[in-house]
Amino acid sequence: MSRYLITSALPYINGVKHLGNLVGSMLPADAYARFHRARGREVLFVCATDEHGTPAELAAHEAGLPVAEYCAKMHTLQKGLGERFGLSFDSFGRSHSAQNHEITQHFYHQLDKNGFLEERVTRQVYSIDDGRFLPDRYVVGTCKYCGYEKARGDQCENCTRVLDPTDLINPHSAISGSTNIETRDSKHLFLKQSQMVGRLREWIDSKKDWPLLVTSIARKWLDEGLNDRSITRDLSWGIPVTYKGEVRPGFEGKVFYVWFDAPIEYIGATMEWADATENNWKRWWREDEGATDVRYVQVMGKDNVPFHTVGFPVTLFGSQEPWKVVDYIKGLNWMNYYGGKFSTSGNRGVFMDQALELLPADYWRWYLLANAPESDDSNFTWEHFQATVNHDLADVLGNFVNRIAKFCTTRFEGRIPEQGEYGALETETTAALDQRLATLTRYMEALEFRKSATELRSMWVIGNEYLQKAEPWMKIKLNPVAAGVSIRYALNLALAFAALAQPFIPETSAKISYALANTDSALTWPKTLTDRLSQLTPGAPITVPEVLFAKIKDTQVAEWAKRFGGVDP
Ligand code: MF3
Ligand code: ZN
Repeated sequence: MSRYLITSALPYINGVKHLGNLVGSMLPADAYARFHRARGREVLFVCATDEHGTPAELAAHEAGLPVAEYCAKMHTLQKGLGERFGLSFDSFGRSHSAQNHEITQHFYHQLDKNGFLEERVTRQVYSIDDGRFLPDRYVVGTCKYCGYEKARGDQCENCTRVLDPTDLINPHSAISGSTNIETRDSKHLFLKQSQMVGRLREWIDSKKDWPLLVTSIARKWLDEGLNDRSITRDLSWGIPVTYKGEVRPGFEGKVFYVWFDAPIEYIGATMEWADATENNWKRWWREDEGATDVRYVQVMGKDNVPFHTVGFPVTLFGSQEPWKVVDYIKGLNWMNYYGGKFSTSGNRGVFMDQALELLPADYWRWYLLANAPESDDSNFTWEHFQATVNHDLADVLGNFVNRIAKFCTTRFEGRIPEQGEYGALETETTAALDQRLATLTRYMEALEFRKSATELRSMWVIGNEYLQKAEPWMKIKLNPVAAGVSIRYALNLALAFAALAQPFIPETSAKISYALANTDSALTWPKTLTDRLSQLTPGAPITVPEVLFAKIKDTQVAEWAKRFGGVDP
């Protein structure tokens, strides 16, 4: 496989994302995209804002903006934050784009043509004062089972029972509070998922290498029997139920359900990219146009897994066209904030814009990837963040690079030492590093970021141990040639470390590479460390990079914990 299509779950448009969202899909997907680019693979890394649905409408309402304007504004904001975090999307599209309208309506047409759609009349809550239908979760009232007064029409938060709006006593609109509501008949399009259970099960069964987290969620859905699901909603904001400009009779004022058009935007965003850059999107998505040699990897939080193992595949299979279907799904658990959920309303946790006010992106990227919630949920605390940054980044990597670069400057006039040959200690160190590199490469291929970070850190430690054994600071007086050999070796290691760290901390890697090699083209992924021991030209000048990572102080931790509501659990 030489080409990689990588998609991250699409962040909802309503508001800046928190670090839990970031580590749940966009950041690991970015590290994976960077890894493959560094290996010389052709990569297309796609993401977008997920712009439809009632939450977007309500957020716009709260912001006092027309929903289209609100979404355009929030898209720009999220896009900018992604860039500042070093998220290397080839396309960061919008599910409201013209391209997504076109392709979503195309899928609708295909599904309809192939007999997978059916019109059914459903009973929907209508709020007379709001002048609109209310999605179940926007009807609130008293739970008839437990008496909880703020139960939502889809589920009671108190007793966790799944509800129907008719299970509520004193139902009212969550939007206006009005009790002037009634149920009305409304026609919707149902996707006959139940007909595709066999095909889906066969497909899931064939994915022997998928993580258990993913296949078990998919199987649970299939085992419980797939219900046909409604793919339209009574809303004005969304993609209208039209084909070639003609509204489907009886579907005026309705749009597709947000979970129908959102995954299709993976394709839509590729079309947006292709239109903007004069590229061919079909090469990535259509097996009849060359996509058979694409490996397609999706990254997402576990709550998104059903929509990607069932919902989206049903759309693709049901089209009966040769679409590229996902080859591997990386599902992640939650990262919590002091043992609880990140929460906007409760002022709990850190959001992407706030994080960048405190520290540069690489501090966060390293911490989040090194603690990615992979085998289990993980937990953010300021103390843990401080300890990780101070140890891994400041003491281990930063110190290694700065120490040797400084020493080279004071003792070797800032030029790569030229004399002497590598000896037994270097050979031994390289062998140990090569073993680690092979493991690291395997973990990166498997999207195991926590384990990758551990390997990477171990390699940095080996670098530091080498310096302790080689003692260039001692040798410089009596045996300057030997000191020079170890500095040349260590500088080459530093450059190789920068290449390996690039998927995690790209800005720092570039800084190191510019300081030592005056370019960032040295940041390709090495096959072996042995290949990288004479990458730096003896005699060539280096500069000392500015301090790579400043240690986080206790006073900062105290201040941030207070500001962001971090309390020891
Ligand atoms: N916006 C959704 C979430 O944050 C994810 C959408 S993923 C897609 O949970 F596939 F639908 F695009
Ligand atoms: Zn209840």
